[in-house]
Amino acid sequence: MNYDEIYNLESTYASGAVGRRPVAIVRARGATLWDSEGRAYIDCASAHGWANVGHSHPTVTAAIQAQADTLVAQPESAYNDVRAQWMQELAAVLQTSLGWETCAIHPSNSGTEAIEAAIKLARLLTGRRGLVAARRGFHGRTLGSLSLTWNKKYRQPFEPLVAGVEHIPYNSIEAAEAAIGDETAAVVVEIVQGEGGVFPGETEYFQALRRLCTERGALLVVDEIQTGVGRTGRWLACEHHRLSPDVVTLGKSIGGGVPMGVTAWRGELGRFKAGTHGSTFGGNPLACAASRAVLQVMAEERLPERAARLGDRLMAGLRAIPSDQVREVRGLGLMVGVELRGKVTPVLQALMDRGVWALPAGMNVLRLLPPLVISEAELDRVVEAVGETLR
Ligand SMILES: Cc1ncc(COP(=O)(O)O)c(C=O)c1O
Repeated sequence: MNYDEIYNLESTYASGAVGRRPVAIVRARGATLWDSEGRAYIDCASAHGWANVGHSHPTVTAAIQAQADTLVAQPESAYNDVRAQWMQELAAVLQTSLGWETCAIHPSNSGTEAIEAAIKLARLLTGRRGLVAARRGFHGRTLGSLSLTWNKKYRQPFEPLVAGVEHIPYNSIEAAEAAIGDETAAVVVEIVQGEGGVFPGETEYFQALRRLCTERGALLVVDEIQTGVGRTGRWLACEHHRLSPDVVTLGKSIGGGVPMGVTAWRGELGRFKAGTHGSTFGGNPLACAASRAVLQVMAEERLPERAARLGDRLMAGLRAIPSDQVREVRGLGLMVGVELRGKVTPVLQALMDRGVWALPAGMNVLRLLPPLVISEAELDRVVEAVGETLR
């Protein structure tokens, strides 16, 4: 099918909820996307941040194919061999990264569901109702996670949302001191605010949140849906701050492109009682097999280390661009933002014209989230294209 045919069909039936670029992506491999007209783009979006191991990684593809031939879906209401092994392997990663002695895992199908489960878990385990989240934070678009999301544009049309949420300034220990109290069930925070503009948090802030949550009996929930599994140069971004949260949420890259969300917590805190939460597809063997392959590739190809090294290279290259349109370059590993003095939309289009597919973060931040397998040569081409665009 050519672009016009695809465009006409999708436009006839699409809900309208998602704005589209005037391009149809039909194939991808590694860090390259191809459109319906055969044009190639260097992927600096990882399809909203899921493609950390790259597109069509042979290990992940083989795992999906083999599992599709064996058993695609089986709810958690029966035990399953692939799920069991995946839980053990994921728990080992989380326990090492976060310093947890034990680990409980609730699998779901998306980032927003992982947050929904975290909210329910926090309310069940603490018996409290209050939730504290950060300004500029993004946690999803279903009604519970939307209540924690800051941007009014996403929230206002759907109010009233979940009651009891307070948004406080990010990186402000003073605000956290004032907001966290005896009615707080959970504090929910990102280590680098992604959608909000690629703002990394500070170690003292996270350590203060840890202390306040412990003292005041609230759970510290870290949303690693975007920062998770290798993106920031560590398996989990918490490691940069030696932070041991109570609950962590994963999504995007954890399923290697098969929809998956994860809510995981220190096992000592307790569990859901049977019947209090669940999902038909959560923990399906297809997603678990893909996720096992992701964990394997991450370790074998040392992708977190690669993200750290390439992230430094990318940020150094971007900082060296002589342009008065750049206000700041910031980020962690291969999660990079270029804050511009003007709007990002024309820059995204100009980059596409140069064969680079990037993302916005708010109105004036260019966000680069390439697959962690991107080559040095591709990354250098990205820097060159950004330089040409901002000249
Ligand atoms: C930090 C964070 N939390 C939650 C979500 C929601 O994930 P999903 O789109 O899979 O529902 C996102 C998506 O961008 C995210 O970046």
